[in-house]
Amino acid sequence: MEQVDLHFIRQIFKKRLPDSHKGSHGHVLIVAGSKDKMGAAIIAAKSALRAGVGLVTANIPKKERTTLFIAVPVAMAEFREEESHTQKYTAIAIGPGLGTDKSAEKKLKALLQNTHVPIVLDADALNILAQNQGISQLLPQTILTPHTKEFDRLFGVHHSEKERRATAVQKAKELQLIIVLKSHKTFITDGTASFENTTGNAGLAKGGSGDALTGIITAFLAQKYEPIQAAVVGVYLHGLAADMTLETQSPESMLITDVIENLGKAFQ
Ligand code: APR
Ligand code: MG
Repeated sequence: MEQVDLHFIRQIFKKRLPDSHKGSHGHVLIVAGSKDKMGAAIIAAKSALRAGVGLVTANIPKKERTTLFIAVPVAMAEFREEESHTQKYTAIAIGPGLGTDKSAEKKLKALLQNTHVPIVLDADALNILAQNQGISQLLPQTILTPHTKEFDRLFGVHHSEKERRATAVQKAKELQLIIVLKSHKTFITDGTASFENTTGNAGLAKGGSGDALTGIITAFLAQKYEPIQAAVVGVYLHGLAADMTLETQSPESMLITDVIENLGKAFQ
């Protein structure tokens, strides 16, 4: 298992070219949010933009669009129940704050059936898959970002992180997936190579942190990083921005919105 530190990240990090334009940096679609959980969509969209993607479109409930536009003016919105024209996107995230009702299920199913764009599945997308035992039908190289409970819903109850990591390696290999098992030391595996992150702190133990990670990883995926690299760089940068937030906040006071504002420092 490889430790993900600054030296490691420098080897895979791609510098933004001076002559690039927004089309060079990809277009992320974020399928997230619901009536009472729009914050998750906003955090994911904003994080993706702070992580360098050229364009972000959020698929959200139509009634909530003003909330999105006020919070993230550069984001675009769309409202399709069944997303089938995904060719214009370079990476897609689905799940944060989505809910698990019929409409969420419909959105997830349509996406999984109709798209060949690289995908990150988080939160309620994982919960829906767990309910429907749909995990074996994913495209190879799909990235899953479960926290402990989401992981256990997908793959059965585990009694230690060591056991959970062993299952992650086995399932990633068997199903050809990338699994990001989130904890205070996040573990990333494609079933062959495995990585342990070295950044992040307990200030991230607050609602919304995972939604930001989803946006960040999807942004790197859209910027043509290999899926395993997008996961590793995303997890590292998310934690590093949180560590840098400790200069002005404590682990108690830190909000994920502070962390997103420090992504710039983390890139530097
Ligand atoms: N040290 C370092 N990193 C931490 C720590 C810690 N003590 N605690 C949490 N983190 C990091 C994790 O590694 C992960 O990247 O913060 C993130 C937390 O992600 P989630 O557990 O998904 O939390 P959250 O953002 O609240 O999820 C939002 O989605 O998963 C659902 O049920 C969840 O409704 C909730 C929503
Ligand atoms: Mg989460």
